[in-house]
Amino acid sequence: MKNTVAAYQKAFENYQPEGKVLDVYKYPSPVLKKVAKPILEFDDNLKELCLNMLHTMYHAPGIGLAAPQVGESIRLFVMDIDFNKDKVTNFDGTTESKLSNFNPLIFINPEITKSDEQVVHEEGCLSVPGVYEDVKRSAEITVKFQDWDGNSHTIDADKLLSVCIQHENDHLDGIIFLERLSMLKRNLLMKKYLKKKKKK
Ligand code: NI
Repeated sequence: MKNTVAAYQKAFENYQPEGKVLDVYKYPSPVLKKVAKPILEFDDNLKELCLNMLHTMYHAPGIGLAAPQVGESIRLFVMDIDFNKDKVTNFDGTTESKLSNFNPLIFINPEITKSDEQVVHEEGCLSVPGVYEDVKRSAEITVKFQDWDGNSHTIDADKLLSVCIQHENDHLDGIIFLERLSMLKRNLLMKKYLKKKKKK
C-alpha cells in the first residue's frame, strides 16, 4: 500500500475526547435513509461537529460514526479502529471502561475506489443496536477525502479500516449495513430488531 493513514493521523497526536455527546439516531429514522450533501464550508462549526462526533463515538463506544447518525445529512464520518477499551475495577467494586491510545480519523467528502477482491467481516452499527452480522465488502479500497481544513488526502486501506470506511460511507448514501445482506437475511434481522425496539 502506497498511502497510509500515518501522516494524516499526526494532526491528532495528543487527542483526548472532549465536547458534547450527541444523540445517535436509530434505524428507521428518515435521516438515515437520505443521500447526504457535500460539505463546502470548512469553518469552526464543522470542527466543533467533528469533535462532538468523535466524543460521541468514543462514549458509545464505537469505531465509526457518520454525520447522518447524529442527524446531520452531510458527507462526513469519523473513525478510530485503534483505541483500547480496558475494564477498570474501582475501589468500591464498580467497573468502568477506560479508553486510551486514540487514533481519530475524520473523512470529509470521501470518494472510494474499490478492488474486486472481497472479504467477509462481522459488522454492527450504533444506529441498529444489538444487531451483528457478516457482511461482504471489497478487500482493498483507495479513498480520496478532505480533512477539516479542506485539504485533500488519498489513502489506501485494507482489513478493518477498509471495511469500516465502506460501512460509514454507505451511511452517507442512506444505506445501512443490513441492506448489504441477502433479502431473506435482511428481512429476518430487521423484523427482529424492530420488534425488540418496540418493546423498549
Ligand atoms: Ni453504522
